[in-house]
Amino acid sequence: MRIVLFFCIVLFAPQLFLMCGEKARSHQRIVYQGPPIRTLEKRADMVLNVGKVGLNRRQLILGFRFIESKTKECVNFYTVHESRIPCLIERSELFHGFLLRSIQSKEAFIGRGCFKKVSKVILYGPQPKVLAECSAPLDEKHEIDILEQIRGGEGIVPYYGAVFRERKILSYYEYFPQGSIGSLFARNKPLDLLQTVKIFHDIAKGVRVLHEKGLVHRDLHEANVLVDITSQRCIGALIDFGFTVLAENANDGTVQGAVYRCPPEPLVDDLATIDRYAVDVYALGTLLYQAVWGKMVSWAGVYDIHVLHKYPLSERKELYERIVSLYEASLEQDVGTAIQKSQSGYPLTNLEKIQLLIYQMLDVVPERRPSIAKVSSVLEVILESMPEDEQNVESALSP
Ligand SMILES: Nc1ncnc2c1ncn2[C@@H]1O[C@H](COP(=O)(O)OP(=O)(O)O)[C@@H](O)[C@H]1O
Ligand SMILES: [Mg+2]
Repeated sequence: MRIVLFFCIVLFAPQLFLMCGEKARSHQRIVYQGPPIRTLEKRADMVLNVGKVGLNRRQLILGFRFIESKTKECVNFYTVHESRIPCLIERSELFHGFLLRSIQSKEAFIGRGCFKKVSKVILYGPQPKVLAECSAPLDEKHEIDILEQIRGGEGIVPYYGAVFRERKILSYYEYFPQGSIGSLFARNKPLDLLQTVKIFHDIAKGVRVLHEKGLVHRDLHEANVLVDITSQRCIGALIDFGFTVLAENANDGTVQGAVYRCPPEPLVDDLATIDRYAVDVYALGTLLYQAVWGKMVSWAGVYDIHVLHKYPLSERKELYERIVSLYEASLEQDVGTAIQKSQSGYPLTNLEKIQLLIYQMLDVVPERRPSIAKVSSVLEVILESMPEDEQNVESALSP
């Protein structure tokens, strides 16, 4: 009898122990499904295929073992920070940590564009942090190639790496909790002048990184500029390089993704010869206009670049003329006084300097628009002349 009892305990104790563990975990609503050790080698190869991780295969495998042994700590971290989200631990493919991915949770959802779905994940490592994970179809791989070229550039969203999984590309970025400048515009949260200059100085630097490599963004709009405005910092970062190409290869019909931010020249010029850098400068100008005046330029959306082929030539000319006259009327109204002041040698305020810069960026003649290097240096000079103690970063955006 005793022997039977002994065997029962030996056989069933582990199951009992596991059941209690499960109960405790389900109470916390945490589900752990750690990857089995035997897949480590496969994953190491996968990471090496993905690219520059700075570790060799052996180091990677050792790294994975270490990470797996840290699973419990990781779950605890998750419990403290995101306790209401059931999670799945996965993707230790990334060398410097592994990712906790929330599943079926609205709370993990960050945003969605035309191509990608963006969710929160946690990167576990010495200093765990939340990252943004973009999930895109495989044919968006092109964007990853661009990101590899511009990684670490000023004004570009910090990019951690990408993996290919289940016919999807998952790429990882610094998470910006306040989201895009578009969400500020939508909530009618005005930026003060210093915030505007700081954010657009960053974004101009980001666009400059592209232009200096011969690349054009082609989709500069409010949802593709991230902001982070706290009492400690005020920064902007450029995202979404799905339309980015070498300027010399930009002859595929795509001029600018956002209709409202497309310049007028495609109406009258040959698409093959359009200056694509000047298109980016114009699109950025429309964003800066919106940040300063709190509205879109008056001629926005007069035509739709995506259906350009549908306009007969005579109508194109008419639309172009309409844009020119709206631009001129607006110029007179918005910066007429500043132009007169500068012509008579009066010093301009910083606001007036920015307003003049915006109208140069929006010029209907692309050759007259400043280069992005010029835009960025003008903003830099203005920024340097603005005393930090006049900062009021908390006022506009603190929740
Ligand atoms: N790193 C991030 N932090 C916070 N929000 C982000 C981040 N990356 C993207 N988003 C949000 O997700 C949206 C879609 O991302 P995006 O890369 O522009 O995808 P798409 O190519 O589909 O437009 C963005 O407009 C932004 O609101
Ligand atoms: Mg986008």
